[in-house]
Parts: sequence; structure tokens; C-alpha cells
Amino acid sequence: MTPKDDSVTSGEVENASEEQMELTLRPQSLSQYLGQERVKKEMAIYIKAAKQRDEALDHVLLYGPPGLGKTTLAFVIANELEVNLKSTSGPAIEKAGDLVALLSDLDPGDVLFIDEIHRLAKPVEEVLYSAMEDYYIDIVIGEGQTTHAVHVPLPPFTLIGATTLAGQLSAPLRDRFGIVEHMQYYTVKELKEIVERSSEVFHTKIAPEAAIELARRSRGTPRVANRLLKRVRDFAEVKGEDTISLATTTYALKQLQVDDEGLDLTDRRILRTMIEGYRGGPVGIRTLAANIGEDIETIESLYEPYLLQQGFILLTPRGRVVTEKAYLQLGLPIPGKK
Ligand SMILES: Nc1ncnc2c1ncn2[C@@H]1O[C@H](COP(=O)(O)OP(=O)(O)O)[C@@H](O)[C@H]1O
Ligand SMILES: [Mg+2]
Repeated sequence: MTPKDDSVTSGEVENASEEQMELTLRPQSLSQYLGQERVKKEMAIYIKAAKQRDEALDHVLLYGPPGLGKTTLAFVIANELEVNLKSTSGPAIEKAGDLVALLSDLDPGDVLFIDEIHRLAKPVEEVLYSAMEDYYIDIVIGEGQTTHAVHVPLPPFTLIGATTLAGQLSAPLRDRFGIVEHMQYYTVKELKEIVERSSEVFHTKIAPEAAIELARRSRGTPRVANRLLKRVRDFAEVKGEDTISLATTTYALKQLQVDDEGLDLTDRRILRTMIEGYRGGPVGIRTLAANIGEDIETIESLYEPYLLQQGFILLTPRGRVVTEKAYLQLGLPIPGKK
């Protein structure tokens, strides 16, 4: 793998090999799932209660930026419940009929996981309401004279929805989730543990200070940490290191254009555009997206939350503005300061 690819923080699974890697790195149980302590603690209680009552777990909505472990957690929840999980995504369910097929195929207590649930088609979403609330679906079948409504009872099931943009979920849909969990960025300590666990899975050794450096520069995101680890491992292997060193890690990160705060090319392009093109803002999301050639959803779900969390930008009623920290990070003079 060449270090040319600058998409280290992209939210999408890019190819089969990455998908394969994510599968092997995915924790199977709550105890293996690192970080997200509050979410885990709450989920452990709800899972235990549902099992004691022998009922389906309440529907769960997981939201937060890409790569924080939403899909992983959905699978962990199903594992802990000891039920099957069927996985699909909002855009994949084209017609209400597709949803009926998915739901009537479930055993009692099973999980239906819908990723990118904010992208469900409206007619499908409307069918989901009664399914979630009372476990039935009314559908109309046939055409013209033969049209008739059919009442389809469903097994009790748990819907787990995941979304990067909770704000785009309609209120009626959001209200039907009994459990709503906001996924947080991971701490350096948590990411270090994730990096160390992943290197064990890869049969690679990594020096503790190298693991910390990787953790520090992974935008609080396990997917990024794993991806960077894979690239850094390539550098170490080529150098003939049997334990990934700090020096190789910093060298590799430099080649990958990940800076000391973990910002990548696109992060820096966003800040630079705001500073050089718009005097630091305010800038509207559309303008920004058009300027840097990224789609709005990617900026809103992936880049902006991290830049906000790290204090590089602020949201004001008139739009996003950069902070002094952004000027310092890019080595640019702060306006009005010597
Ligand atoms: N809590 C965690 N502990 C260990 N690894 C994790 C954790 N969360 C995510 N990962 C790793 O990050 C990858 C991306 O997580 P994923 O669940 O696909 O994120 P999301 O669905 O939020 O985009 C997973 O394949 C897994 O290797
Ligand atoms: Mg996912």
C-alpha cells in the first residue's frame, strides 16, 4: 500500500480489504468494546432488563460522527442479547415492501440494524412507525380493482438505527426510539488501547509511546486509528523494524500529511479556505463545500464536528468562524495581533 492516498479520515469503507480489516478488528462483546463508558453502562442495564423480562429490547438510535463504533456497537448489542442481527441501510430499502420482507423474516427478539437511517425514503419511514410502535404493518397490494389492504403482524423486534446526522431525522421517527445514545469522540487513553488491541490482531508489536502518538493523532476516532496503524505498520515493515517505533510513527504520519493535532489535508483546507477566502468567517456550509469540493454531508458529519470539538472553529448564528487556534495551527498571523 502506498502512502499517497490522502483519504485517511474518510468516513466510508473504501474497499473490500478495508471492510475485511474492520470485520476482524470488530469487538464482539461489551467487555471488548473499549471506551464509550456511559453508553456501555446504560446499554448493559437495558440489555439485562430486556433479557430478564424475555422481551425485545426497546428500539435504539445511535448517532455520532463516522468511525466511532456505531455499527460495531449494534452487532455487540445483538450478541449480548443472544439474538440474530439483520443489517441494511436507509438508501437500500427502496419500497415499503422491502421493509416488510426484512421484518417478517425476523425471529422474536431479533435486531434489525438500519445504517444511515436518516436517508430512509419517506414512504418506507411511514411504514416503520406502526412496525416500531405496535409490531404490525398495513400494506396495500394489488392494482386497480384487486387492490386490498393487508394487515401483517410482526414478531417483536428491536430496531437499531445509526446516523451521522441526527438533526436530519424526522421528529416522528426520532420519538419512536426508546433509547437514544450519542457516541462521543474517544480519549487518547482509549484509542491507545484500541491501537494496542488492533496490533495484537495484526500480530505486530508497537512501542507504547508510538501507540500514544497514533492515538493522539487519530481525531478521536477508532476507524482512523486502525487505518493509520495499518499504514504505519507498512513503514515499519519496510524499515525492517520488529516493533513499530515512535520515530517511524512520526515519520509515517508526516508522509500521510497528518499534522501534530491529527488534522488531515481536508481539515486544513477547510480552515485555510475560511481564513484566506472569508477572513475567518462567518461562512455558510454550502459556500464552504463548493470551495473545497466536498459534499455538504461529509463536512457536516465528519469534518466539522471534530474541528468544533477541538476548538478550531465556532458556530455562530451567522455561520461558522475560525478561532485563534486555527491561525496558530496553520502558522498564519492572527488578524489584529502582532
Ligand atoms: N469501541 C471500540 N473498540 C474497539 N474498536 C472499535 C470501537 N469502535 C470502533 N472500533 C473500530 O473502528 C472501526 C469502525 O467502527 P464502526 O462501528 O464501523 O463505526 P461507525 O459505524 O460509527 O462508522 C471498527 O471496525 C472497529 O475496528
Ligand atoms: Mg457504520
